[in-house]
Amino acid sequence: MGHNGSKLKRGKRNSISAADAPYSTNIMSSYKEEYNFDNPYMMTIDETQIDRMQTQHHILRTIWDGNFSAPIDEKLRHGNFRVLDFGCGPATFCFDLASSFPSSTFVGVDFVPIFPTQVPRNTQFLVANIMDGLPFEDASFDYIHARFLVMYFTQEEWENVVIKELTRLLKPGGYLECYDSEFIWYNMSPSLEKLCNAVQKELYARNIDPLMSRKIGDFIRSTGKYESIRHEQKNIPYGSWGDKIGELSAQTFFQFFEGVRKPIKEIMNINDQEFDKLMREFEGEINYYRTYSKNHRFVAHKRV
Ligand SMILES: C[S@@+](CC[C@H](N)C(=O)[O-])C[C@H]1O[C@@H](n2cnc3c(N)ncnc32)[C@H](O)[C@@H]1O
Repeated sequence: MGHNGSKLKRGKRNSISAADAPYSTNIMSSYKEEYNFDNPYMMTIDETQIDRMQTQHHILRTIWDGNFSAPIDEKLRHGNFRVLDFGCGPATFCFDLASSFPSSTFVGVDFVPIFPTQVPRNTQFLVANIMDGLPFEDASFDYIHARFLVMYFTQEEWENVVIKELTRLLKPGGYLECYDSEFIWYNMSPSLEKLCNAVQKELYARNIDPLMSRKIGDFIRSTGKYESIRHEQKNIPYGSWGDKIGELSAQTFFQFFEGVRKPIKEIMNINDQEFDKLMREFEGEINYYRTYSKNHRFVAHKRV
C-alpha cells in the first residue's frame, strides 16, 4: 500500500491527523454543538454545516440530473461493485446510493467522523487522513467519488498526494469522479464582493488557489494513468430568481458564510454586528444581481 503523504508546510494549519480528533466516532450525540477542538479548518464544523452539506447534495442531484456522470449505472445495479466516497462528510452521497443500489458496497472516508453511527448494511465508514495514506490495498475500488475538497488541499497536495492516492486505490478500468466549485461568484453584489475578497485572502493565506477546481482535470491527467477525462460545467443560481433550487442554494450560500464568519471577521477587521449587517445587505441584493456560481465535474476513466 502506498503511503505518500508527508505533511506539506503552509502558512496556516489546514489539516489534522485523524488521531488528533478529540472525540469518538460516536459523534451523532454532539450534532448540536460546534466541535470543541483546535479546529484547523477554515470552516466551522457544526450542525449548520452538516445541514448545508446535506441540502447541497440534493441540490446537485437535481441540477445534474443524477448523483454521478460516470457510466456506472448498470454495474451498480448488477452488484458487487465497490464505491469509495473520499471526504464523505455526513455520508449523504453514500446513503443515497446505498439505498438505490443494495447489491453494491459503499465506503466513506473522512478524517472527521461526522457520519452517522446507524448505517445501511451495504455501507462502511472510517476515519482516515489521506495525507497519511488511506488504509486500503491497491485497486480496491471500481468507482471513486471526491466532492467539495478544494478548500482543504494545496496544489502540491492535490498533485502529489490526493490524486495519486485515489488513483492507487482505483481498479484498472474504474472511474474517478471529482466535483468542486470555484471560490469566486458571478454577478456579485457589492456586499458579496467584500465577502468574496475576504474568503480569497484566507485561502491564499493557506496557500490554496480559489480557482483550484478548474485544474483538477490537469492533476488527474498528469498521472498518465487515465485513458479519458471528461470535464462538465454547470452554473448554480442563488436566490428565488433561480426558482426553488435557487432559493435552496441561496440558503446553503448563507450557511457557508456563517461557517467562515470567524476568519472573515478577522480579515475584514469587523465585529459580529458588522458581519451580520453585511450578511443582511448580501441577502437583500442577491436576487437583484442574479448571482450564480460555476461548478466543475471531472470524470476520468483509468486505463486497463
Ligand atoms: C466540504 S466537505 C464535503 C463532504 C462531502 N464530500 C459532500 O459533498 O457533502 C469536505 C470533507 O472532506 C474532509 N476532508 C478534508 N481533508 C481531508 C483529509 N485530508 N482526509 C480525509 N478527509 C478530509 C472534511 O473533513 C470534510 O468532511
